[in-house]
Amino acid sequence: MRGKGYTASISYDRRLYKEDIAGSIAHVKMLARQGILSGRDSKTIVSGLEAILLEIAGGIFPWKEELEDIHMNVEARLHEIIGSVAGRMHTARSRNDQVTTDLRLYVKSAIESTLAGIVALQTAILDQAEKNISVVMPGYTHLQMAQPVLLAHHLLAYFEMLERDKDRLQEAFARVDVLPLGSGALAGSPYPLDRDFVAKELGFSRISSNSMDAVSDRDFVLDYMYSSSVIMTHLSRLAEEMVLWSSEEFGFVRMGENHSTGSSIMPQKRNPDFAELGRGRSGRVYGNLVGFLTTLKGLPLTYNRDLQEDKEGLFDSIDTVLSTLDAFTGMLEDINFDSNKMLEATEKGFMLATDLADYLVSKGLPFRESYDVIKALTSYAQTEKKSFDQLSLAEYQQFSSLFGDEVLKIDLESSLMARSVSGGTAPSNVKSELRRARKIVDSIKI
Ligand code: ARG
Repeated sequence: MRGKGYTASISYDRRLYKEDIAGSIAHVKMLARQGILSGRDSKTIVSGLEAILLEIAGGIFPWKEELEDIHMNVEARLHEIIGSVAGRMHTARSRNDQVTTDLRLYVKSAIESTLAGIVALQTAILDQAEKNISVVMPGYTHLQMAQPVLLAHHLLAYFEMLERDKDRLQEAFARVDVLPLGSGALAGSPYPLDRDFVAKELGFSRISSNSMDAVSDRDFVLDYMYSSSVIMTHLSRLAEEMVLWSSEEFGFVRMGENHSTGSSIMPQKRNPDFAELGRGRSGRVYGNLVGFLTTLKGLPLTYNRDLQEDKEGLFDSIDTVLSTLDAFTGMLEDINFDSNKMLEATEKGFMLATDLADYLVSKGLPFRESYDVIKALTSYAQTEKKSFDQLSLAEYQQFSSLFGDEVLKIDLESSLMARSVSGGTAPSNVKSELRRARKIVDSIKI
């Protein structure tokens, strides 16, 4: 037959087996409490479902593609095990409210795993920041050396991004944490259901308010896909820096043996493959989001089979973001920062130019004028092939009579210390930010 297997989803939706069985058990228990099903039948069904759970976990469940999806596979197997009582399980339920209940349960636990993955990466970042607390490096804008910063300050920027990623996931969690079961196919159910009981059994904090919305809503899938896209953006930016920094040209980091690979023909190379693959895989996570937005956009209410297309992309985004978080945690634990290379680089690039301009401002010159003075001074130093600290006071004074002895004391340390505004790179600030960050990760035990 042409098109055989075209409608089947069992090859991938079998991942929902635990959620599907938990949903059925809660549903059947509720039916018995409400007198819709006898206590005996409910017990028989529950024990049959528990047996199926063991079969699947043990790898001996007889999956059948012709039964299309996880729901039909479980129900058909239940018939084989307990006989016709199995037919009572689907009372007051439709696959439309069942599948989205399963998927919501799945996304809730995926969010929890993602949060745990983020906290592990944040911990690795903090460990490196603490270990390298006194390392100074060039800070960049436009990838041009701009002003000196502490490496720890740079690393803590990623901690902040990951904090926002956690916020986003927690907000997404509040929206997915709603029970759709009881919505029936689309219009609700004629049976006296206790939806709150089912919600409680399954750990949902609320029940849905509109049956038509409940069976067709997949915003929670988009929420996860979007949140994971932003995480991948952050990881990809980190990856890009690690790739740049591990190059001969920068030489700021050396990747650990376990997180880099040699070239098959160039023995001297240590390629940052983990970082590159993480950067590359952001593309598929964005693709999943855009793909599923496109699937949803033209759908009339309520359930349409197109909705079955929610799963593969979602699972792929979950797998990609979890494995990338894990790989990057290992990569960061394993990385070595070269503090000498960073310091050497900091001494190039006239990075104290802004500090010199600020010095003249402290002597009363308007900033725009002092900017021009330092610009002229910098091109003089460049032609003389000297760095600022190699200039004499007399040379400084050729550009402005406001320069005094103190200008010779401007150095990396004074530049860092001066930036003590909240959020700045002054060592005292960075240390207190590190303590705050450490408290955050220590308070979350997932
Ligand atoms: N496999 C289907 C899905 O993933 C389950 C729901 C099917 N419902 C239906 N009325 N055909 O969406």
